[in-house]
Amino acid sequence: MDRQTQIQEVINRFGASFYFYDLDGFEDHLGAIRRILHPDIKVWYATKANPLSEVLRILRKTGFGADVASLGELHQVTSAGFEPRDLIATGPAKSKHYLGSLLSAKVNTIVVESLNQLRDLNDLCEKTGLKQNVLLRVQLAWESEGESFMGGPGITPFGLGPEDWKRIDVRSYPHLNFLGLHCFQWGNVLSADELRTIWTRTIRDCGDLARDLGIELDVLDLGGGLGFSYQDDREISFADVHDLLLELKAEFALKKIWLELGRFTIGKFGSYLTRVVDIKSVRGKDFVVTEGGINHLARPALVGESFPCRPLVWDEASPTKTYSIHGPLCTALDHLGTYALPVSLKVGDWLEFSKVGAYGFTESMPYFLCHSSVGEAFAYKDELCVPRAPTANLEWMV
Ligand SMILES: Cc1ncc(COP(=O)(O)O)c(C=O)c1O
Repeated sequence: MDRQTQIQEVINRFGASFYFYDLDGFEDHLGAIRRILHPDIKVWYATKANPLSEVLRILRKTGFGADVASLGELHQVTSAGFEPRDLIATGPAKSKHYLGSLLSAKVNTIVVESLNQLRDLNDLCEKTGLKQNVLLRVQLAWESEGESFMGGPGITPFGLGPEDWKRIDVRSYPHLNFLGLHCFQWGNVLSADELRTIWTRTIRDCGDLARDLGIELDVLDLGGGLGFSYQDDREISFADVHDLLLELKAEFALKKIWLELGRFTIGKFGSYLTRVVDIKSVRGKDFVVTEGGINHLARPALVGESFPCRPLVWDEASPTKTYSIHGPLCTALDHLGTYALPVSLKVGDWLEFSKVGAYGFTESMPYFLCHSSVGEAFAYKDELCVPRAPTANLEWMV
């Protein structure tokens, strides 16, 4: 069954908005990354990008570890068969209870993001007699211009600054094994040259901090941030990134480099499909109103960037005009983007938004206005699977 037929079949089955993932393409992409990986460069998967169980099973099968940032993600990766040695945990909100769960699950490494986390973890380890691997998460000050949803030059709650970390004495935390440092502040980077600038500075500053703290930098975790463009075909080359990492490893005598990637792994392999509910012109501006909007796919409202969009069936014979696409919510924030679309577009036609595999389904805001929730389907090894049907959204209403 070809892709178009598979999508049509899901439309026939659901008759409502859904995500559609190409998991064969995803698996091939992971295989290509895996094949070139040097043993000292490890790639973990940032589960927050897309925690669908089949996505996780394919990652595990292909030999990737996973980074979790909540109890829910921990349960999800454990159910997908990840071994404790294949897990790390990042994230600014680690209560003592959650730290206890991470210890019970025996996750390989915990990325510590605050002094409270450090103290609580050490205390818990003392009680249980465990020695836990940790990385300290570092947040650097950047002079450069530019914004990033990971903070970039802004001050965020992710980790602590080098000066903040320098106040600790690692000998006061004897139940922790300080493996190294973690630093990630720039997301969706499109060029290896830009990464070279960011990573060179990061490696220098983290090297200095490790020396000041008196710890070995056995591991430096550079986070995620490998990107692709949502406007055109630009995409960072993993082979170039890998060459760069090997070069930096040699230049700075690094032992092990870790990355935890989200967008770059699954992002390109998902689409969101929704129906046209209305088309109208308001004071000279043309609108398409869709069944689902930021309740199903919030990123355009969160970061002001649209996903590529086209009608599922493009009418080549029709001229185009510019439409502003809006979802069903009663807020002007529910704007999915502005696109040139065929003027023959009509109510009931389906639109496909592509490159939504990462930060799609779970980053949405499904409750506002009580619309139906979105379904999920995927194609994998000649099978079409529908793990989640759209629902009327009634089960959570009280
Ligand atoms: C700690 C951490 N690592 C990795 C990632 C994944 O980033 P990306 O999707 O840019 O690869 C995130 C994303 O928020 C993150 O918070």
